[in-house]
Amino acid sequence: MRFDGKVALVSGAGSGIGRATALGFGERGARVAVADIDGGRAEVVAAEIAAAGGTATAITADAASPAGIEAMIGGAVKTFGGLDILHNNAFGQPTLAVDTHIFRVANRTGLAAGKDVLSVEQKLLKTIPAEFLQHAHHWLILHGRYVCLARKPKCPDCPIRDLCDFRPKTAAAGKT
Ligand SMILES: NC(=O)c1ccc[n+]([C@@H]2O[C@H](COP(=O)([O-])OP(=O)(O)OC[C@H]3O[C@@H](n4cnc5c(N)ncnc54)[C@H](O)[C@@H]3O)[C@@H](O)[C@H]2O)c1
Ligand code: SF4
Repeated sequence: MRFDGKVALVSGAGSGIGRATALGFGERGARVAVADIDGGRAEVVAAEIAAAGGTATAITADAASPAGIEAMIGGAVKTFGGLDILHNNAFGQPTLAVDTHIFRVANRTGLAAGKDVLSVEQKLLKTIPAEFLQHAHHWLILHGRYVCLARKPKCPDCPIRDLCDFRPKTAAAGKT
């Protein structure tokens, strides 16, 4: 896939997934606004994109604040004349988004049953104490990915089996 002529803004682009995403957009022809709370990191990634033949600008901005969001978007638009793609990757917020794994685990266990991702998200946000929210996001994803599998959950080995409401729990030889 190519993004020639497009302007892509990536938050938290100074490291990890955000950096890889920014480099990927750069390689595929987009002009990239590399935003990070750590301006030094953003500069390094923007320089990497330029060194690889792409076009990028570095923006120092805190994606957790309205002023930072304004600075990111304003910086991208000012430099490149518009904005086509926004990849919001910066983290650090005590909240969670419900993906397919969290949706399944929340419904099976009864932690937050709901028909759609929004209702599950709202219930989880109410149920999980704020201090655990950020990590609970990853715990639930990992539990769904490696234990509470979609087709055949590993109920006999599940550490929260006694707390889970899912009735058709799977069984294994020698285990109940
Ligand atoms: N790595 C994984 O396996 C994984 C799995 C699921 C979800 N995630 C999520 O993906 C995102 C990135 O993860 P990563 O492993 O690449 O992280 P990372 O720590 O390598 O990179 C995060 C970058 O975001 C920047 N940053 C942090 N707070 C910011 C803010 N308020 N405003 C702007 N920039 C900010 C940091 O300076 C850093 O450059 C996170 O939201 C993380 O929770 C990661
Ligand atoms: S007991 Fe089974 S259904 Fe319940 S959370 Fe564990 S793996 Fe999932």
